[in-house]
Amino acid sequence: MFKLLYLIDFIVFAILIVLWVIVANRLSRLPFLSTKKELKISLKRSAILCGLAQAMVVAELVILVVTGTYGWGFIEEKVLLTMPLFLPSAVSTLVPLAILRKIVRQTSDELQTSVDETERKLLASPPFILPVQAALISSVAGCYFSYFVYPFELNIWNAVLIWMVFALILVALWFRQQRYSAELSQTHYKLPASTRFVRRILPIVIPAILIGGWYILSMKASVLPDHMNMGSMHHHEMNMQTMNHSMNDKEISVTALTGPQTEKADRYFELVAEKKQVTLSSGKTMEAWTFNGSAPGPELRVKQGEIVEVVLKNKDIEDGVTIHWHGYNVPNAEDGVAGVTQDSVPPEGTHVYRFQAKQAGTYWYHSHQQSAKQVIKGLFGSLVVEPQEMAQPQTKDITVLSHAWQLPNDDSFTPAYGLQDTLDRQTIPSGTPVRLRLINAQNYPQTFQLSGAPFKVIAIDGNDIQSPAPVDNQNLFIAGGGRYDILFTMPKTPVRLSSQSDAGATPGIVFSETETNAIPAINDKNPVFDPSRYGEKQQTPFGLNSKFDRTFKIVLDSRLGFYDGKLYALYTINRHVFPDTPMLTVKEGDLVKTTFINRGWDHHPMHLHGHTMLVLSRNGKPTTGSPWWTDSLDVAPGEVYEVAFKADNPGIWMDHCHNLWHAELGMTMHLSYEGITTPFQTGKKTANQPE
Ligand code: C2O
Ligand code: CU
Repeated sequence: MFKLLYLIDFIVFAILIVLWVIVANRLSRLPFLSTKKELKISLKRSAILCGLAQAMVVAELVILVVTGTYGWGFIEEKVLLTMPLFLPSAVSTLVPLAILRKIVRQTSDELQTSVDETERKLLASPPFILPVQAALISSVAGCYFSYFVYPFELNIWNAVLIWMVFALILVALWFRQQRYSAELSQTHYKLPASTRFVRRILPIVIPAILIGGWYILSMKASVLPDHMNMGSMHHHEMNMQTMNHSMNDKEISVTALTGPQTEKADRYFELVAEKKQVTLSSGKTMEAWTFNGSAPGPELRVKQGEIVEVVLKNKDIEDGVTIHWHGYNVPNAEDGVAGVTQDSVPPEGTHVYRFQAKQAGTYWYHSHQQSAKQVIKGLFGSLVVEPQEMAQPQTKDITVLSHAWQLPNDDSFTPAYGLQDTLDRQTIPSGTPVRLRLINAQNYPQTFQLSGAPFKVIAIDGNDIQSPAPVDNQNLFIAGGGRYDILFTMPKTPVRLSSQSDAGATPGIVFSETETNAIPAINDKNPVFDPSRYGEKQQTPFGLNSKFDRTFKIVLDSRLGFYDGKLYALYTINRHVFPDTPMLTVKEGDLVKTTFINRGWDHHPMHLHGHTMLVLSRNGKPTTGSPWWTDSLDVAPGEVYEVAFKADNPGIWMDHCHNLWHAELGMTMHLSYEGITTPFQTGKKTANQPE
């Protein structure tokens, strides 16, 4: 629905601009018609087109009101910038319409006579010509503000400035037209041929110059720097509260923010990144980028409280690798982001990660060097942290790492659980509790379905749900990077897990008591499970009514624009792409609220490193169930989420869309603690490309 609205709005705008261009052009030529017959025909046509344009204006108003029901954040620049210019101009086009009518009436009987001087003067007068010109300019401006960019912060003063510039342009046009009409009323009423030619081509030349200028300038401006340092980008702070940040604060480097260094590790893993041929269950083979020769990499399973040491070795990934612990709140130096918390590990290189496994639950790890490319190719795996005591030790615990592979010579994706791209069958005795750890390692959101048994959602993104109720016939919609743990008791009849995304459908797994050919059917009418009101309410450390030290508003959108010199349909954060996206600056201990507004075309799974966010409200409705803690939150087109977190893990943390292709095109930003610096750099001339 929201996408449709967005599309209609854009189309109406485009039609409107075209109509005003035609009308303005027609009106400006009226004074040069010789007979009244010609004049009458032309006037009628202009009147019809003008009326049509006004109908489009009404349509725009209706669209504005409907879009407004999604929230103020969806319409604010329309209300502040576009409409104040657009509406008065559109209304004022009634004036030329009235003049047109009068002239048409008067000229009805004497069609053969030629246009006289008074009529000509009237037709060239500012009140006749200007409204349509104003309407045209305001529509172009409105379209630009809505779908391209405004190079300033949106507030009332900047809006007033825009209105004034607009008024000045109109005054200038008025005087120009006045002088012109005076000239016309003199003896010669035919303009020189060259002037007429220029006037005719102006409507093409001016837009061409504007578009060409925009094209070249924004292309140049989008070229990425060779070197960037995330510790010194505080000038992008979006929040006035941070302006009084004192520069004398003592500075700490991210390299000092490590996990336990001296304690002996309880668990030791070695992960070797290397290229390897792997084979899917269907028999198809591909060259994958693996950890320890397997893609996905081995599951790291540890117990809560243990000190974990992981030694990363890179055998032959030329551009280097890192390991990021997705959803796991490790100290900053262990976060594995190339160019922010470490340098990417080159071939033959080694890097040691050490952290204490404080949170239990389902997580995953992946390379955060060229992550869009490296994750697709297989440099990821699951990280499962078990609590000290397992509630039901006889539980069958199954990790489902759902991914979409890119096979050689295949443009489409091959969705699979691990390397299982064909139907998997597992036998489980009835009565056995089965825990499925569903991990979405795709860029797309995925819809999972468990058919054949009721289940409980016992954890989201590793965080336990309080008193989960049984769920039957509901689909689970999991964000890119997100995880759901579900629990069911194996019945006597078969149960099937399957999933679906823009990459295609995964055949899934059939669990059955004995060998069988039966396959439970997929129900395509299932409603989607709603995590905002599931489970039992519980006290949370903060909530909607807390006093927040920082509040950030993040508008996710799409527009046409440049990234590193190339034209794309961009995914923007507050209208910009990295490195012009906001830097969220906080200090340790701050309570932070962020509002995500998705005004674009695509789902954006927003992923914050190093912290877990509590969802406060969804589309204006406060969450009511068990506290919904998340690190990967899918914000669908038209949705608004308020989330909050405690700034309790100092460092410089990525906060980005986990559709890694979006991140690769600049849909990333950072959460940065005051006084934290990094010695590492990203940029084209460095070995670090975290996206
Ligand atoms: Cu799963 Cu910034 O990453
Ligand atoms: Cu995105």
